[in-house]
Amino acid sequence: MKALLTGGAGYIGSHTFVALKEAGHEPVILDNFANANRNVISRLEKLVQSQVIYEVADIRDRQAMIAAFKKHQPEAVIHFAGAKAVDESVKNPAKYFDINVTGTQTLLDAMDHCDIRKLIFSSTAAVYGNPDILPVSEDYPLQATNTYGETKVIIEEKLRNLHSVDPRWAITILRYFNAVGAHPSGKIGEDPTGDPTNLMAIVSQVAIGRIEKLNIYGGDYNTPDGTGVRDYIHVCDLAAGHQAALALTNSSGCEAINLGTGKKVSVLELINAFEKVSGRKIPYTIIARRKGDIAESWTVPVHAKTLLDWEAKRDLEMMCADCWRWQSENPNGYEKLDQD
Ligand code: UD1
Repeated sequence: MKALLTGGAGYIGSHTFVALKEAGHEPVILDNFANANRNVISRLEKLVQSQVIYEVADIRDRQAMIAAFKKHQPEAVIHFAGAKAVDESVKNPAKYFDINVTGTQTLLDAMDHCDIRKLIFSSTAAVYGNPDILPVSEDYPLQATNTYGETKVIIEEKLRNLHSVDPRWAITILRYFNAVGAHPSGKIGEDPTGDPTNLMAIVSQVAIGRIEKLNIYGGDYNTPDGTGVRDYIHVCDLAAGHQAALALTNSSGCEAINLGTGKKVSVLELINAFEKVSGRKIPYTIIARRKGDIAESWTVPVHAKTLLDWEAKRDLEMMCADCWRWQSENPNGYEKLDQD
């Protein structure tokens, strides 16, 4: 199937591009490269051994979106594009409402105008806020605790509304748990702009020597070792989830599906696993809790198994090993232009 990937040059988008291409689909990337490096394209071309079709455009530009749809005629859109830094979202909510909410509305208008009504939308476990029932399932009430999560809740509501008004829409909302790891080739991976804020990105930069030590936010949670517990999921498993969702998106509906592993991992367990695969020591200090953090977040992805026949295959060791390969072979991310 021909699918247009907004934000397709980003972390999860680029890995999904490879998975779709390998499965025989025809993915087209659309990105404004505000938060993605242009070297991603040449890396992808090496990986898939063919030309990567891409457009430089902003989802907020209705005319540019319509032009891209007319030119490429995709059957479906996978909508990754968006701003995702939780801290920044609280400091600059207007930016998050503009890019995420207005951007998505413009994209939906342009899709409708071009008669494209199959959509896969990137949502997040952040829509559950601080859930008091774990594992968290899809029917848990949505209650984000920060602006980033709030924009995702608003978009999800818009999508459900859109489908109830016009049932021709086929919408799959994928709620990601904590995406980590990299493609096993070491050619593509996560390359945060500015200082990383997510745990594995920081751990890998400590291992490579770019950051001196890790601050663990809180050792007094009500968890087995006192540190925060999350459901880390390999980015290639997430990519496979999108591939499975593309098949489901053939039928009309609006379904939200959690993509997680069902495995609970604490900060200390992740550090231990990373030290083992990298052979590097990760120095750390336990400090106060980070504002807005929750003790535990995990899901048992039964809905994904039932609806998509999908489950995560890669374990924590593989997440760390692939992340470390990417980090150690590309200590400055995509920054250095490829010579070979
Ligand atoms: C965060 C966001 C979430 C977003 C996700 C992916 C919040 C409250 N949630 O999830 O909305 O979808 O990123 O971008 O910010 N940790 C440390 N030291 C660090 C960094 C993290 O101890 O330097 C701990 C955290 O306290 C947490 C775990 O590591 O227990 C994971 O943190 P992180 O990778 O930032 O993801 P989340 O906070 O789960």
